[in-house]
Amino acid sequence: MNIENKKILDQVSDSAKATTDRQDAPAVAKAMAGTAKSKKSKKILVTGGAGFLGSNLCRKLLELGHQVIAVDNLSTGRLDNIQDLTQNKNFSFIKHDIIYPINLEANLNIANLNIDWIFNFACPASPPAYQSDPIQTIKTSFLGMLNMLEIAKNNNARIMQASTSEVYGDPEEHPQKETYWGHVNPIGIRSCYDEGKRSAESLIFDYHRAYKTDIKVIRIFNTYGPGMDPLDGRVVSNFIIQALNNQPITMYGDGKQTRSFCYVDDLINGIIKMMQTDYGITGPVNLGNPKEFTLLELAQKVLNLTGCKSKIIFEQLPQDDPKRRRPDITLAKQLLDWNPEITLDVGLEKTIKYFDNLIKS
Ligand SMILES: NC(=O)c1ccc[n+]([C@@H]2O[C@H](COP(=O)([O-])OP(=O)(O)OC[C@H]3O[C@@H](n4cnc5c(N)ncnc54)[C@H](O)[C@@H]3O)[C@@H](O)[C@H]2O)c1
Repeated sequence: MNIENKKILDQVSDSAKATTDRQDAPAVAKAMAGTAKSKKSKKILVTGGAGFLGSNLCRKLLELGHQVIAVDNLSTGRLDNIQDLTQNKNFSFIKHDIIYPINLEANLNIANLNIDWIFNFACPASPPAYQSDPIQTIKTSFLGMLNMLEIAKNNNARIMQASTSEVYGDPEEHPQKETYWGHVNPIGIRSCYDEGKRSAESLIFDYHRAYKTDIKVIRIFNTYGPGMDPLDGRVVSNFIIQALNNQPITMYGDGKQTRSFCYVDDLINGIIKMMQTDYGITGPVNLGNPKEFTLLELAQKVLNLTGCKSKIIFEQLPQDDPKRRRPDITLAKQLLDWNPEITLDVGLEKTIKYFDNLIKS
């Protein structure tokens, strides 16, 4: 960890005080209304805050002593993900679709909110989810980015865009460095997401060039862990749910395609480290686990860890499915002193426990 970042992290941790007070409007208003931009406690907007990554991020930011406003239209997110957070007086939730502008002050009944940081994480991330309404997906990426950038500009706030490894498409360069411009089919069924995210990157960099907006772009690679929606069709959740239900494991393609899987806690640490970097460190920065596995290896690990004896059945590979995916994280190591630490076996065990509890509840 670089010394500057460690100092900031330590200061913030010292000030962190978890609260179990019930959330009520006056308390939220009081907590949010301070005008001085304290270095320790920031006012943070998280879009997609009820989703898998967004809810884990909100939880971590609250632990660090910040005030968090989560905005989500609940299209793929779940209130269950943030149930525990609603007890915290530093947390508030607004149901809203970010393709439309939002007046946060009016929603929270607070004057001069002065947002410090924005994490723009709203967007369905699993292929079945983002392909179910592709026009809404591309609108969320582009119009959502535009609306959040306007808030950043008006509040002089720092803004992070959750971009994706999908901007590299079906890559011809392996592993993928941030300098690689990608190999994306602009008219295929994945393009609402891939090109949506690429256009959001264009826009955020244009705001940086035009208005000097303080921007951070991260390109997230496949991440898994507690908080995932059991039904959203991602490979890790699919395999685990099938194994826990003693159903056959569905493999699309021959299973020799590779992915690298990052455990959510590792990713959240990287996200926060990136957000704490100085103005001008814009990214894009890859965040993901560089250890590469075939999907057959993943399936075998899930079968071993769950003790399930199901067979693997093979189905046709969907259109434009990338064959290889592995981040080059040299930049993240240099810039953030960040390296994922949780092995796939350990991460899968925690994730299996989470899904097991979910199924039983
Ligand atoms: N999980 C990963 O492996 C991964 C990889 C790369 C990038 N990302 C990016 O990270 C972000 C979060 O992904 P996730 O895995 O948590 O997905 P998710 O589907 O669990 O979360 C997305 C959240 O955004 C909300 N949302 C969607 N459209 C919205 C809109 N128009 N207005 C308001 N809220 C909206 C959803 O309801 C959901 O709560 C996404 O931007 C995604 O593209 C995730």
